[in-house]
Amino acid sequence: MTIDAPTLSAWLARRESADARSRAPELATHAAALTRTPRVVHDLGSGTGGMMRWLAPVLGGTQTWVLHDWDAALLAEAAAAPPDGVTVRTHVADLAGLDAADLAGASLVTASALLDVLDRRQLEAIVSASMSAGVPVYVTLSVTGRVDLDPPHAADRALETAFNAHQRRAHGDGRRLLGPDAVEVAADLFRAGGWSLRTAEAPWDLGGGDRALVEEWLDGWIDAACAQDPTLTDSGAAHRARRRAQLRDGALRVRVAHRDLLAWPP
Ligand SMILES: C[S@@+](CC[C@H](N)C(=O)[O-])C[C@H]1O[C@@H](n2cnc3c(N)ncnc32)[C@H](O)[C@@H]1O
Repeated sequence: MTIDAPTLSAWLARRESADARSRAPELATHAAALTRTPRVVHDLGSGTGGMMRWLAPVLGGTQTWVLHDWDAALLAEAAAAPPDGVTVRTHVADLAGLDAADLAGASLVTASALLDVLDRRQLEAIVSASMSAGVPVYVTLSVTGRVDLDPPHAADRALETAFNAHQRRAHGDGRRLLGPDAVEVAADLFRAGGWSLRTAEAPWDLGGGDRALVEEWLDGWIDAACAQDPTLTDSGAAHRARRRAQLRDGALRVRVAHRDLLAWPP
């Protein structure tokens, strides 16, 4: 299923502040220290530019951001209002075809909330192009599959298992997305190339102040789990009602695990 640009744009807007407070700050500082000037950042799967708005102030000074995405409407939105001191260029293409020439002149390659929606071929293209460019790679907010709801309930683990299987499912065209395994696969590829690596946990920690985001995330989580395992349909519906009531009462917290990764050449 491909999500249309307005729906994806609204989802990205809803999650932007949670994303901003979840990325591990120590890796951002380290990425900034490794980035040579002039700062030319290539952001892969940039969507509407959330990573640029968050990282540009950390990098500081004048910067050029080259935003890569296969959705031209999202890129147009991102380019419409760049942060102070930032010049934006856009590149509409499937990341599966990314090569070193696309990253010419880069001083940093970034991505956020991207890896888990890629298949192995796309991930290998990104890692290979980045390694050829020979610049640091900073990838944030890759989902790793663990979800903890508070208060816990017995139904959570069955939904988690089915959701993760759905993330890894094969598509009609034979592609299999990496889902929660993607960040480990990326780390292995960088290690095999002799690159240095640092990772950090970057969980969404959501509560009453994130009600709209939690509601939308919960619907997506339960819908995908039930699509994967239809035997969960009835218990999933009951669980959705239970969790929504807790959310309305301010009695639900959600922790969604993510990992950030920073890799740099020898
Ligand atoms: C979950 S969004 C994250 C957007 C942005 N990085 C952020 O954190 O707000 C994933 C983005 O990757 C893009 N994308 C996914 N697969 C892609 C591919 N194979 N080639 C190009 N863009 C892709 C989508 O269009 C979408 O904008």
